[in-house]
Amino acid sequence: MASGPRITIIEGGPYKVEGHVPLSEDAIVSTHGRYPMQYRRVRDYATEGRDGYLLCRCGRSKAMPFCDGTHAAIGFTGEETASREPYAERAERYSGPRLALLDDDRCAYARFCHRLGSEVWTLTERAADERTERSAIAAAWECPTGRLTSFDRLTGEPYEQGFEPGIVILEDVEERASGPLFVRGGIPLIGADGFEYEVRNRYALCRCGHSRDVPFCDAYHISYRFYDGSESFEGLWGGEDPTIEALPGEGELVEPPHMRRGGSVASDAKRPEG
Ligand code: SF4
Ligand code: FES
Repeated sequence: MASGPRITIIEGGPYKVEGHVPLSEDAIVSTHGRYPMQYRRVRDYATEGRDGYLLCRCGRSKAMPFCDGTHAAIGFTGEETASREPYAERAERYSGPRLALLDDDRCAYARFCHRLGSEVWTLTERAADERTERSAIAAAWECPTGRLTSFDRLTGEPYEQGFEPGIVILEDVEERASGPLFVRGGIPLIGADGFEYEVRNRYALCRCGHSRDVPFCDAYHISYRFYDGSESFEGLWGGEDPTIEALPGEGELVEPPHMRRGGSVASDAKRPEG
């Protein structure tokens, strides 16, 4: 493989990132307590001049987001269990008058697919005017996992944001859990056995060590209240909000709402009142 940006999974260990990939941190926040959700930049890491770095995959490093070798001490295996079939073959299709949507159900429960009073599936099926169409496209292309892809029904052209290669550490401030690595801009991912995963513009890698769809995030960081020590939470929740006290540490396993009935996040996630 060429020497551009790439991520290699180390067996039983971290993600090895090579090729001068910028690293930053975003908090996921709502718009005044309502949908849509937004990414808010918290910090950029100084990775310039470094060809590579190792990112924690077991969730237990004391030097987050970087690896400190703890995976070896705790016997982390991190065996890759996710399907390796291409996205288009795994995804279900939804169609509307102007748009179509692919959905492979690989969800980090980041909630960008929800809009005020609706969600991407309904918007896609109803998008007969430009405003609804734009809302449907935004709801799909903000999704960090790449679960949702919106495209023009007639031409088949996908609507995708033109990301530069980069990795964004997500902190789900609203759910009070540290989230996955949001990998953007088509960075190749290589499995521990050398398998080259399908190159995607967006995907989310598990870094809490609890996913059942390794190496991808399946939202279990919320169930386990994964917390990496980020100051995002203090800045956005601390002081005025007493819920900060419920934050750190790995708690008891709580099934997130969208998993309780075995359905998609679309049907069960919290909805705005207005
Ligand atoms: S599909 Fe899941 S990860 Fe994607 S925007 Fe919706 S809730 Fe977030
Ligand atoms: S970071 Fe989401 S399941 Fe591990």
